[in-house]
Amino acid sequence: MIFDTHAHYDDKQFDNDRDELLNSMREKGVGTIVNVSAAYESCERVVNMAQKYPFMYAAVGIHPDEVGSLDEERFARMKELFGNDKVVAVGEIGLDYYWDKESHELQKEWFIRQLDLARKLKFPVNIHSREAAQDTMEIMKEHGKGLSGVIHCYSYSKEMAEEYVKMGYYIGVGGVVTFKNGRRIKETVEAIPLTSIVLETDCPYLAPEPYRGKRNNSSYIKYAAEEIARLKGVSYEEVVNQTEENARKLYRV
Ligand code: NI
Repeated sequence: MIFDTHAHYDDKQFDNDRDELLNSMREKGVGTIVNVSAAYESCERVVNMAQKYPFMYAAVGIHPDEVGSLDEERFARMKELFGNDKVVAVGEIGLDYYWDKESHELQKEWFIRQLDLARKLKFPVNIHSREAAQDTMEIMKEHGKGLSGVIHCYSYSKEMAEEYVKMGYYIGVGGVVTFKNGRRIKETVEAIPLTSIVLETDCPYLAPEPYRGKRNNSSYIKYAAEEIARLKGVSYEEVVNQTEENARKLYRV
């Protein structure tokens, strides 16, 4: 069944139908979802949701756009959440020079501290990186040693993807692979082995064609899986089964 490795179901865009939508996932072929925090306030929310739904797990971490709200006290409180048995990863963490909401220095500082936390607690990482290819790679080489994880919503060159694969990381592929202008991610999918790809929505964002621009949800992953199957010349079932196996290895569930 489909394994959605990166979703944001605590988002207010799901406030009107969250329960109904999530309870319909199984019949739509979605077996497992990892609910990922972004802002400090969402850390506790994603953990509470994972406790409510048996098919859901949580990733806890602060997105680079949100690191300005962190301080030592909050970081300590965030760390306590890793004691919950439904928490499977540190994320999403990284660098975002597209929105550039916080200084690069502050983004790097908290990125590195959260990587160190993952190593100390022996958790995989869920990496967000936008318009920050070189800095992310440098930090991952220096501070990501010995870690496992996924480069979520991968948007850089196929060469860099191959480098991450060599380092043992998975590449997260979602709705963008169905876009007409998604040439780069299509090339990446062709270049790397299926054993290094995991599926994700990043919902409510990044809905695939034919729903581009609408609210995304995990059942739409099938459109990304269909495109990956076409690009790799394998069956849809093989994509779903292999990426599920990959995701279980990634998150150890
Ligand atoms: Ni995300």
